[in-house]
Amino acid sequence: MGRLIISGGRPLEGEIKIQGAKNAVLPILAAAILTDEKCVINNCPALRDVDKTILILRDLGCEAIKNGSVITVDGSGIRDCRICENLMCEMRSSIIFLGAILTRCRRANVSMPGGCPIGLRPIDLHLKALRKLGVEITEEHGYINCRADRLRGADIHLDFPSVGATENIMLSAVCADGETVISNAAREPEIVDLAVFLRSMGARITGAGSSVIRITGVKKLHGAQHTVMPDRIVAATYLAAGAVTGGDITLIGADKTHMDAMLDVLSEMGAQFEFGENTIRIKPLEEIKSVHILRTMPYPGFPTDIQSPFMTVAALARGTSIFVENIFENRFRHVDELVRMGADIRVSGRCAVIRGVDRLYGAHVRARELRGGAALVLAGLAAHGETIVENTEYIDRGYECIEKYLSECGADIHKEA
Ligand code: EPZ
Repeated sequence: MGRLIISGGRPLEGEIKIQGAKNAVLPILAAAILTDEKCVINNCPALRDVDKTILILRDLGCEAIKNGSVITVDGSGIRDCRICENLMCEMRSSIIFLGAILTRCRRANVSMPGGCPIGLRPIDLHLKALRKLGVEITEEHGYINCRADRLRGADIHLDFPSVGATENIMLSAVCADGETVISNAAREPEIVDLAVFLRSMGARITGAGSSVIRITGVKKLHGAQHTVMPDRIVAATYLAAGAVTGGDITLIGADKTHMDAMLDVLSEMGAQFEFGENTIRIKPLEEIKSVHILRTMPYPGFPTDIQSPFMTVAALARGTSIFVENIFENRFRHVDELVRMGADIRVSGRCAVIRGVDRLYGAHVRARELRGGAALVLAGLAAHGETIVENTEYIDRGYECIEKYLSECGADIHKEA
């Protein structure tokens, strides 16, 4: 497991080009197997989860070739409908292949997915929806065995606007017989990006980005090209890095329209921004103000994925902030490590009370999941002294070359294998 060594206390200054969105590229790569023609996906981020997804594609018998940020997928050779357990366990997004494999092969055998340990992360909503689409599902020995001689459109109401379940339904319904209506669908921008790609393949989808998505099944999909949207969570993480170091950072290629809730919170904390054509600049922040109460919600509410990096900002604020984590039941795993660095944070259930302190101090800390690991990196950038962040494999799942981009903005940070 790798580690990051950070000497903190230096204001960051410079520009960071924002990578393609992890949570958009993963379902889009799964969607590429819906056709036996070639798909070319541009602006793919260099992430462990992308590499694992390429292995799944190859495991299924598809050709998947990465050339820089371009991934070409040729699904004509798909020969298997089963994903081996060690690949399924690598990440949560592997479950998205279920819908895509069913559409292409009418069969699918997958194990329960993996992913960051931020909660139970059941897939009951996925399976309930697939059964409505005519899929017969049995579960045995940890494997989910699906068969669907015919996928038929259905009206599906999601009890919770699950991102993954919405994506799985879309991938299962695009070639089903008839119309599928998803109500209480997830509205995340990554859902819209997936729908744009599917439409470019010939799918008939309307309403993506709203709570009601309508899909009319078509006979066949064709190959397409797509450029992945920028990663809004990575963008907000780097803005938070500017905030905690009193720095001056300009993001290149971020899409402000996806970031309202996050920008509002940073503004409430005292941040000031300059917006260009496709740039966002955070100006040096004299004093961080506390947030009265922050609640994570489904989009367009405040994203759960940025809760932990923003908690590092709140840890250095003047005053007390309250964070309520409404999406996942175990997403405060970074708190103990922040407290070891001098933060004053108390957790009770889904609430964290953060009393701002004047400074944090370098310490030897451990990333326990992706976004909590990013929060510890931000704390190390702000802290006095040296911080060692262990288990960088978690961070590499979602942040492309984080130490490179930060050191190019003046951070004293390097990685040890
Ligand atoms: C996606 O996860 C993202 N991952 C997560 O990002 C993100 O935090 C999450 O959406 C919410 O925005 C990817 O896109 C790869 P959900 P997903 O289904 O699809 C419960 C990151 O850091 N639920 O919207 O797994 C679930 O337990 C990752 O990049 C059920 O109960 O999220 C959770 O409490 C972390 N049953 C809530 O819904 C189900 O069948 C939201 O889950 C499905 C979900």
